[in-house]
Amino acid sequence: MASLTVRQIDESVKKRLRLRAARNGRSMEDEIRVLLREAAEDAGRDAPDLTEPPNRAANAARRNPAAVPANTKRILLIVGGGIAAYKSLDLIRRLKERGIHVRCILTKAAQQFITPLSVGAITGGHVFTDLFDPAHEFDVGHIRLARETDLVVVAPATADLMAKMANGRADDLATAVLLATRAKVLIAPAMNTQMWAAKATQRNLARLIADGIATVGPNEGEMAEANERGLGRMAEPLEIAAAAGRLLAPQERPLAGKRVVLTSGPTHEPIDPVRYIANRSSGKQGHAIAAAAAAAGADVTLVSGPVTIADPPGVRVVHVESARDMLAAVEKALPADVAIFAAAVADWRVAHAGTQKIKKAPGAKTPDLTLTENPDILSTIAHRAKDRPHLVIGFAAETQNVIANAKSKLARKGCDWILANDVSPATGIMGGDRNTVSLVSQDGVEDWPPQSKEDVARMLVARIVSYLIPPPLAGEGGERSEPGGGRLRSD
Ligand code: CTP
Repeated sequence: MASLTVRQIDESVKKRLRLRAARNGRSMEDEIRVLLREAAEDAGRDAPDLTEPPNRAANAARRNPAAVPANTKRILLIVGGGIAAYKSLDLIRRLKERGIHVRCILTKAAQQFITPLSVGAITGGHVFTDLFDPAHEFDVGHIRLARETDLVVVAPATADLMAKMANGRADDLATAVLLATRAKVLIAPAMNTQMWAAKATQRNLARLIADGIATVGPNEGEMAEANERGLGRMAEPLEIAAAAGRLLAPQERPLAGKRVVLTSGPTHEPIDPVRYIANRSSGKQGHAIAAAAAAAGADVTLVSGPVTIADPPGVRVVHVESARDMLAAVEKALPADVAIFAAAVADWRVAHAGTQKIKKAPGAKTPDLTLTENPDILSTIAHRAKDRPHLVIGFAAETQNVIANAKSKLARKGCDWILANDVSPATGIMGGDRNTVSLVSQDGVEDWPPQSKEDVARMLVARIVSYLIPPPLAGEGGERSEPGGGRLRSD
């Protein structure tokens, strides 16, 4: 590179140059190089960049994203190397229809399916491909690419890209940007059905979700391979654009300033230092409610028994083992506006747990385990004279007479609402991903549709919001309605 000597610049230009260089984190000499290169490009004296239309406005927007109007949302689209990459051209159009400014990175593999030229023609800007491209790394480096966006969309997200993301790899431009960004990330997985179902892919997916990454799809349908059908097709561009639009919309945080305490998972009650009494609770429903409450802006403390699922994002988690530890942790987390008891607490513990492992001596009698009742955490909190949460919600896990048992639990335990569910093995609810619940309160019984545990969580949070912050009554500027779409019956 030729060295630069610039003489006789007047003071005001020097000052502006110094400011610009400082803002861009460059030396003054480097800043002048960038300015000269831009000037050369604009004057058409530089070799034309075929990935970029010769358009001054587009060049200006590329060089200076601040040229994108202040209220324009910006998406950085990372196109992975899969057959679905061809759909990303339509996706760019759909995003632009929504007034979104799109910048694009193509991975090396993506360039086997689409070219920077075709993508650049649609985005109207430079297409980024190389982590070590001296021209653009110098100008719009990967850190700036990562920062100057409101959302990163990965479409298609191949199995390989998901694996790299889950492991924090950064060996190319796409993965380096994904690691460096503070923006939200949305992935649209696309791969062969077997690859999608593979344990490794599902493990990577779970890790990405736990890291707070949003997903859309995949859908079910024809695969690229002849006669293959199943789950793995990338979501349609319109679906991805809609999911991106939702993530870009200002988040409603109706529970901001509210404190929520939850219990979730099973408890383990020791028999001796190596054995314990437990139950089949996975914690999926309680953890999903904690995540939904946090997403709605609440300050959430989750007291979790031993589970194998990840801590929900944005939630304070206290890990406990036994019912007595769980009660102590809940009491410590008070005061709260709402308390939700989703844990499957062991009703009994061993009265005198061994301090040493109970040995099996030849001919010795089988040990008798005397059980004693555990504290009822829900009932203890619901009956508190001081600091009783404003809204106390329990669950009723039943295998028969679900509603009748839930109603008597509501009265006995002194809570405000009970979510009743049938946990008979045939329902697959215990440990499964779906749930069918009825909300039982003094007002009656509301049957909710069968749905994912995440949707049950969102519906419950919507009910909590309208209980704590009632919408205005008709005549006060709006109609009052039952949120969530459950059916109310009075039995
Ligand atoms: N619960 C609790 N502490 C206990 C037992 C239960 O906080 N020691 C809570 C559960 O978290 C749930 C509700 O009470 O919100 C009902 O739990 P469930 O297991 O359905 O009922 P039990 O009270 O254990 O009664 P039973 O086992 O006889 O149905």
